[in-house]
Amino acid sequence: MADSKKFHEKNREERLNTVKSFARLSDEDIKILRNDGGISFEQANHMVENVIGTLSFPLGIATNFKINGKEYLIPMVIEESSVIAAASKAAKIARKHGGFIMKSDESYSIGQIQLVDVNAKSAIPKVLKASKKILELANSKSKTLSKMKKGAKKVTCKKLETKSGTMLIVELLIDVGDAMGANVTNTMCEAVAPLLEKITGGRAILKILSNYSTKRLVRGRAIFDKDEVGGKQVVDNIIHAYHFAANDPYRAVTHNKGVMNGIIAVANSTGQDTRAIEAASHAFASKDGNYTSLTRWKKDKQGNLVGEIEVPMPVGIVGGIINIHPMIKVATKILGVKSAKELACVIGAVGLAQNFSAIRALASEGIQKGHMRLHAKNIAASAGVPKGKIDEVVSRMVKEGNVSVTRAREILGQL
Ligand code: MEV
Repeated sequence: MADSKKFHEKNREERLNTVKSFARLSDEDIKILRNDGGISFEQANHMVENVIGTLSFPLGIATNFKINGKEYLIPMVIEESSVIAAASKAAKIARKHGGFIMKSDESYSIGQIQLVDVNAKSAIPKVLKASKKILELANSKSKTLSKMKKGAKKVTCKKLETKSGTMLIVELLIDVGDAMGANVTNTMCEAVAPLLEKITGGRAILKILSNYSTKRLVRGRAIFDKDEVGGKQVVDNIIHAYHFAANDPYRAVTHNKGVMNGIIAVANSTGQDTRAIEAASHAFASKDGNYTSLTRWKKDKQGNLVGEIEVPMPVGIVGGIINIHPMIKVATKILGVKSAKELACVIGAVGLAQNFSAIRALASEGIQKGHMRLHAKNIAASAGVPKGKIDEVVSRMVKEGNVSVTRAREILGQL
């Protein structure tokens, strides 16, 4: 950014102008951003049931991100203070060694059809033999995916021994392109179920997408310069912090919660199914039998800190709320992603950045210091401290360890 003020130092108008010229937003887009919320009661009432209103959250912009060589301003929707600043700070440090290098799998979704009252052993070869017919039937349900040479690609089978007897689980592997793909996956599963019953002689019960998106991973890394991280001791402490998470589920859950602070905030701003991302991520974190860290941290030969992330990322840039919600449309425009895979790369990078900042703070001065300053800033503002005096009031409250509206007013009186 050519102008001298940092993004966080700008007022709302200046921030909007920066975002407008960066993402080539229209006046209409800016009007939507200024509108503080997004959807009308009528739109909300069409989305879900028993609607009485809508509820808005802060939309902020994380800066400094360079991912696979491209510059991004990243919209994040989150209620927790410090998260957006922390992501921006991490991204700034990562820039020195090239930013985030990310790679995403194709957008493969998995659909499951459960068959019971079946002789699984003899049914499996029959199903596999009929793969072509099953795939054709599944693909007849999405002209759009078929036209793009995407859609259902493979049929696999597995036999489950359960308390209610043997089950045959038939799985469809579906390339859902730029959609999250839950709807099309469910439609395809329902469409092929009667054919599977005919082939196997079994009875189909569940026909549904698996949210365990293991064929839809995003992975990547970034190098954080040792001096900018805070020196050798801090780098070593971060690696100790990582090994704590890698070996203790109680710590790993909190460590991964920090990762999710980044992932879910970007997922929120771009209209993703955040529950699907969370469910998949935590299952993936336990894929080897123990719940562990979604990121890995080590040192390179120069002593710099190297962070890596691998996580399922079932996201889309078309369909569902993404086509409806005006704020989400504008947020996606600001992000400038051209495909679901690119969005997955961005979200993965923010997850890694967020984790870096959290463990860096924890492994050095602790997180309360930063939190306390932000908290004090909010308190000072709500105590009516004028802009020009906020920094001084905040500094004194933090130094005294006494952060309250009363104290803010007292200090203001003394100034
Ligand atoms: C707070 O929202 C997230 C952290 O607890 C993450 C962590 O402990 O790594 C700071």
